[in-house]
Amino acid sequence: MTINWPPTYYTSEQHFTLEQERIFERSWQCVARSSEIAEVGSFVRVNVGRESVLLVRKAAGEIRALINLCRHRGARLCLEDKGNFGGSIRCPYHGWTFSLDGHLTAAPFMRDLPPETKERHLFTAGVTEWLGYVWVNLDPDAAPLEDQVGPLIRERFGDDDVPGKYGCDELRVAKEVVYEVPANWKILYENFCECYHCPTMHPEICQILPSWRTGYGTVSGPEGPLKRGSALAEGATGFSLSGKAAAARLPGVPEGDARTFHGILLWPNVHLMFIPDHVMCMRFEPVGPDRTKVVTQWLFHPEAMNDPDFSPEDAAALVDVTAREDFEACVRVQKAAGSRYFEEFHTPHESLIVTFREWVLEQLEKKEEKVLAI
Ligand code: FES
Ligand SMILES: [Fe+2]
Repeated sequence: MTINWPPTYYTSEQHFTLEQERIFERSWQCVARSSEIAEVGSFVRVNVGRESVLLVRKAAGEIRALINLCRHRGARLCLEDKGNFGGSIRCPYHGWTFSLDGHLTAAPFMRDLPPETKERHLFTAGVTEWLGYVWVNLDPDAAPLEDQVGPLIRERFGDDDVPGKYGCDELRVAKEVVYEVPANWKILYENFCECYHCPTMHPEICQILPSWRTGYGTVSGPEGPLKRGSALAEGATGFSLSGKAAAARLPGVPEGDARTFHGILLWPNVHLMFIPDHVMCMRFEPVGPDRTKVVTQWLFHPEAMNDPDFSPEDAAALVDVTAREDFEACVRVQKAAGSRYFEEFHTPHESLIVTFREWVLEQLEKKEEKVLAI
């Protein structure tokens, strides 16, 4: 199938703005670990598309996503990355004070202000939790997160709810690495859609998952031969640089998956790996047409992490070395994307790229204007 996908999609500032508006500001975005805001009043500041959002723990089990902009004269309420607001959020400019729900509760000389002042609550965004992550959606009419991820999970794993079995809510971040890559987010994401490059680029990962030498990785599309996961190499006990497991198998992982690697891409920008002893989450945050922040987290069971001999380094090193190889290749593509000769040819191993592009184009075609919810 031929789809319209000009190389300017990787270089144009204008196209980048369109993607922010129609993809990242209208879909559910995985933005933080729920445990980062465990205490009441605690917050983290995150970017969603072009917006700054405060995730605030209002009460046990309740999170609010508040747009980081005062309803008086528009000042950013908060410039810190994280902290604790206590019981309320006070704008440092003129002192308007908002509850953790975003309601205006006090303003200097309130008695002298017109009655409608009291209605100037903070703008809010949709928020939900899944896999121990906080997901935000700026679209007030958004369908539930399940509608975004459910079909992709079923397409990939059929009736087997692989993500559900790894107990991600309970897991803790043992290691985080953030990469700043000078390449468009789609070049990076498309790289992870295929494993045709694996035999050439990734000797380390092919050592641990020998089936990837076929050019079909575990996310090689619904009809890929490894749809049901990839087996660890003989002699390997874990998905790590040395081939050794870092911890015991996670409690919910069945015997049948004791030596299996599962992976899935959740449009638009999340990549998850499920390994018997841990889970890895990689998300791609667009920064500019040719710049992407990649946040990678390795999640382990708290009990494993309590072991004084525990270390996530060996497991993290395998993904780290592989990701650096990937990013180097992606930067090569980015460098060429401005050429008038730039064009592509896809092998059968790369069919998931086309599926991803179709989804992107579908989002870009949704033109109606959206208004933020109050
Ligand atoms: S801008 Fe926030 S109180 Fe004036
Ligand atoms: Fe790769």
